[in-house]
Amino acid sequence: MLKVNNVSVKYGVFTAVDNACLTIAKGETIGLAGTNGAGKSTLFAAIAGQLTATSGNITFKGKELLGLPAYKRAEQGLCRSFQVPREFGKLTVLENLLVAARDSHQENMLTAWLGRRSMHQKTARRTEQADAILHTLGIHHVRDLAAAQLSGGQKKLLELARILMQEPELILLDEPFAGVNPVRIGEMMDIFRRLKEQGFALLIVEHHLQALKELSSRMYVMDQGRMIAEGAPADVLSSPTVQEAYMGGVI
Ligand SMILES: Nc1ncnc2c1ncn2[C@@H]1O[C@H](COP(=O)(O)OP(=O)(O)OP(=O)(O)O)[C@@H](O)[C@H]1O
Ligand SMILES: [Mg+2]
Repeated sequence: MLKVNNVSVKYGVFTAVDNACLTIAKGETIGLAGTNGAGKSTLFAAIAGQLTATSGNITFKGKELLGLPAYKRAEQGLCRSFQVPREFGKLTVLENLLVAARDSHQENMLTAWLGRRSMHQKTARRTEQADAILHTLGIHHVRDLAAAQLSGGQKKLLELARILMQEPELILLDEPFAGVNPVRIGEMMDIFRRLKEQGFALLIVEHHLQALKELSSRMYVMDQGRMIAEGAPADVLSSPTVQEAYMGGVI
């Protein structure tokens, strides 16, 4: 489904991602680990379209992605979360979902005026979809609160809910457990397992290696811009190269 082929990304003269390769099949959950500054978020941005790769190529469902802006990639089913959630604090949770819906950007004053009836039907459909997503993620009880009032963990789930409104096939999650109360991490892991059962492919960047090991069918590890390991999570985490990158004993 996704093929990242020898991708490099530079910030000026600094190479943040150096010839990285990665593949994800339909419905797979893949873990991406690596120490701080390894280049994980930069690679995410190159895949999702916030940054342009300096070299290499990326295909999604057989189509070349380079040159396509992020919203076009999202329309094709490739969506990402950000390390720091980006909700609209003054809007309610439901409103945050409605503005994230796949077709919301197609509405403007003219189409609203010309087709009020169809717009109402569409909003009703979108509200139903939002309610179902909020139930799946266990945050339906905060549906009508301003997003700014949510806890750190709830904001992460809101971010995921906004992604699900875009009907993705592959979701890139950048540190979904960061800032989440440890008691809630288990609940989030169950949610990711449920998404996998529903057929979504997931690429998860995490420092919580135990969680990543439990969720992923395969794992990659980056260090200083390069992919240094790939394979079954247990093998990858016990490999000497990875142990060394984490300076021994941390894993
Ligand atoms: N906008 C930028 N301009 C210049 N350098 C950057 C920029 N963003 C990131 N970097 C550098 O690129 C490297 C990779 O950063 P990146 O954020 O991709 O790492 P990461 O693996 O996501 O780290 P973390 O685990 O801390 O989130 C780091 O050395 C970082 O300092
Ligand atoms: Mg990062």
